[in-house]
Amino acid sequence: MDHPQVAVSVSPRPRVPASSSFFITTAIDYTNAAPHIGHAYEKVLADGIARYQRLRGRDVFFLTGVDQHGQKVQQSAEKLGVPPQEFVDEITEKFRALWAKLGVEYDGWAATTDAAHKACVQTLLQRLHDEGQLYKARQAGYYSVRQEQFLTEKERGPDGEFGAEWGEVVLIEEENYYFKLAEHKRWLLDLLDSRPGLVTPGFRLAELRNAVEKVTGDLCISRPKARLTWGIELPFDPDYVTYVWFDALVNYISFAPGFDPNSKIQSPEFHAWWPALHVIGKDIMVPAHGVYWPIMLKAIGFADADIPTLLVHGWWNIAGSKMSKSLGNVVDPDALADKYGAETVRYYLMADIATGKDADFSEERLIQRYNVDLANSIGNLLNRTLNMAWKYRDGRLAKSAGKGLQDRADSVVQSYAAVMDDGSINAGLEQACRLANEANQYVEQAKPWALAKSGETAALDGALYHLAESLRIIAILLSPVMPKAARGIWEQLGVAGEFRFEDTAWGGLKDGHPLGKPFPLFPRIEAPANP
Ligand code: MSP
Repeated sequence: MDHPQVAVSVSPRPRVPASSSFFITTAIDYTNAAPHIGHAYEKVLADGIARYQRLRGRDVFFLTGVDQHGQKVQQSAEKLGVPPQEFVDEITEKFRALWAKLGVEYDGWAATTDAAHKACVQTLLQRLHDEGQLYKARQAGYYSVRQEQFLTEKERGPDGEFGAEWGEVVLIEEENYYFKLAEHKRWLLDLLDSRPGLVTPGFRLAELRNAVEKVTGDLCISRPKARLTWGIELPFDPDYVTYVWFDALVNYISFAPGFDPNSKIQSPEFHAWWPALHVIGKDIMVPAHGVYWPIMLKAIGFADADIPTLLVHGWWNIAGSKMSKSLGNVVDPDALADKYGAETVRYYLMADIATGKDADFSEERLIQRYNVDLANSIGNLLNRTLNMAWKYRDGRLAKSAGKGLQDRADSVVQSYAAVMDDGSINAGLEQACRLANEANQYVEQAKPWALAKSGETAALDGALYHLAESLRIIAILLSPVMPKAARGIWEQLGVAGEFRFEDTAWGGLKDGHPLGKPFPLFPRIEAPANP
């Protein structure tokens, strides 16, 4: 029976206490072309962090999605002769199918042609307009069609020309709406000084601070419909659509649980999640996420404490150069997952790049990392442990108090947590592999086969227990990146239940624990399938 409540509270309660909730977002991907390995990396990285935070017992909201407006989409759709909505819907489906295949499990899907998002952007624009944060002005200047922005003198190279990265540059003169960006420059500099943790890794802070120092003008947030129609119409002027970045950045709040665009004060539900951790690539820190976005939030009424943090990752390149359609070196993650399995792709993308740095993608490296870390180290450890346990002890463990691998495991778990808290999943995986390597060395030293032969049963049981226990812990550490493989390890060990970080504490396997049967979890990839 329910007990009557004594204290009555009418205010809406947050779904979870703020301290245990975690809101993570990725960049929303352009839908002008199919997803490539760079998009996949970012989504798996965020998914891995989300899963790790869940492992830590936090309630996680993971938001990702697609950026569907803008000139690139309009042009691509025109070329194909299809309506832009149809065009983006088709590409959006490819992204969603890829995330399903790669096990990227999100809680919110941000698609910018969604009616609720459009209404939210319009409400915010109207409010900023009413509050004098927007103004109309005439501007003549050089405009990059590819980057959809006006260029200034500082964008010219040493030769006085605008570089190839800007694509076609045209001289145009037009009236547009501007957002008062420069007004908030001092505020943002002070904020960066007082909260250097706003950007991870720390070495990006100087780059961001420099960019803020250089802000001189305001931000053009409109495009005349004469030039671009595929966007969100300005609520106060039907001759214009919203600049795609202003539209896209708003996704982080328009799709956040409980956000109200009409109010400067947000609900407890919103605050239960916010501020977010934005996982983004290094190319979109400056100016979009590091300059425009915090200033937009400030103008909307957000407090300093509610300015989100950025986790800025590096890029996957191909033999040192950028992936590009024109070079014909774009790697298709979908085909890669079909060939090697989704979790192998996840593992490679997480293990072979340091968060924040760039790396070179290569299929040979993928095979190498799989064979060395998964087949030879973790897989081999699992296989030999189970085989010996069945051969010598009928698949039953006897709990051992000896030291063996316990100290190693404890230290690995501690280091793992420290690096994973920083989003360094690669370093977390390194720790899991370190424990597997040490356990493999321990097998060589303890020589369970010799102990079995000489009848040293207590020592034999001790060794087998330490090996099985290490594997149980390795599976937990692996689970944010390879949830299915981690489950497979547990099944073979005869362990059931949810993965929880607390269970990395030594001694979880009970005395007399019955192990499962071994089967090859990570069979070696013998030769490059594509030599
Ligand atoms: N639509 C904008 C983001 C708007 S967020 C409000 C955009 N889209 S994108 O499709 O070009 O890029 C999406 C994300 O993928 C970005 O964070 C970008 O850095 C990342 N990557 C694109 N290519 C990449 C690699 N080659 N390697 C790693 N990440 C890369 O920018």
